[in-house]
Amino acid sequence: MKILGIETSCDETAASVIQGDREKIKVLSNIISSQINIHKKYGGVVPEVAAREHILNIIPVINKSLIKAGIEPKNAHKEISAIAVTCGPGLMSSLIIGVETAKSLGYIWKVPIITTNHIMGHIYANFIDDDIEFPALILTVSGGHTILILMQSHKKYKIIGETRDDAAGEAFDKASKMMNLGYPGGPIISEYANKFKDIKNKKIKFPRPMIDSKNYDFSFSGLKTALLYALKEDKNWQKKIPEYAYEFQQAIIDVLIKKTIKANNKYTVKTIMLAGGVSANKELRKQFKNAIKKIKNVEFKMPDLKYTTDNATMIATAGYFKAQRKEFTLWKKLKADCNCQIDI
Ligand code: KG4
Ligand code: ZN
Repeated sequence: MKILGIETSCDETAASVIQGDREKIKVLSNIISSQINIHKKYGGVVPEVAAREHILNIIPVINKSLIKAGIEPKNAHKEISAIAVTCGPGLMSSLIIGVETAKSLGYIWKVPIITTNHIMGHIYANFIDDDIEFPALILTVSGGHTILILMQSHKKYKIIGETRDDAAGEAFDKASKMMNLGYPGGPIISEYANKFKDIKNKKIKFPRPMIDSKNYDFSFSGLKTALLYALKEDKNWQKKIPEYAYEFQQAIIDVLIKKTIKANNKYTVKTIMLAGGVSANKELRKQFKNAIKKIKNVEFKMPDLKYTTDNATMIATAGYFKAQRKEFTLWKKLKADCNCQIDI
């Protein structure tokens, strides 16, 4: 069964074709047209600009993904069994472009549509190359979300913790903005952090918000404020950017790892996974892996780097598992939903 995936929830126009055979997924194409260079000059994503770019890019990106998969666009209706599209959460004006395109293609090709929750898409980036053993605990860390999810099966999952304010990726982005380093902040902060080597003599120290709280929730706005005040009080901060970046990144990593391990102590699971754009962070990947390695009988998974940030292969993969259960969305009921809940 071949699935066309479409993702337009934020600033990436993406399309992918996958071929599913029982639990095995073969990626036939993964095309991403990123708008980062356009939004960079504004220091963040401008929704109106993003939507206009999606409109220009969506058909060329879909065509490219079909051709890369060996499918002539005019024959797509004979080869594609279903279209999976991100319905939310995300920017409403961006989501609409993907959803309406999927609706039109579904109507013309006479193929069913599957809606995919964007966060579930990130989680399914882990299912592209691997069989995953349930129950699984997933830490999804992106620009918009920081969520701990307990997944009992493909159909049964619940949120056990989430951020009360900023998401981890958002904190990285804001930290970078405060130090005038650019957008998106995660990769930039991580690059500066790697430059800091004199760890023994590190003087900057930030709080680890909620690290010992009794629940599995997170909070990153206090950390952001701590950075803001530290920069205000330090006349020489520009000379110490690597140290600030290192400590900021490490504070986030410490909280993420400790909270996930704490959740595992309560909900004994077979697999612990990372997901979302922040899971591209090399230090987080390394430290998370080392921490989970110490837990007996638990497998650690993280997505291949190319599937960590927004892409349509993860959307097609999540859609494929729904297609196997024939969970299609009625054409009439299909709509973008910027507040789309995860328990759908
Ligand atoms: O999942 P994603 O592509 O989009 C959302 O669904 O939000 O995540 C984007 C977020 C941004 O906040 C970006 O700064 C962060 O992921 N990010 C990283 C890294 N690469 C991307 N954060 C930390 N380290 C990275 N290497
Ligand atoms: Zn995302």
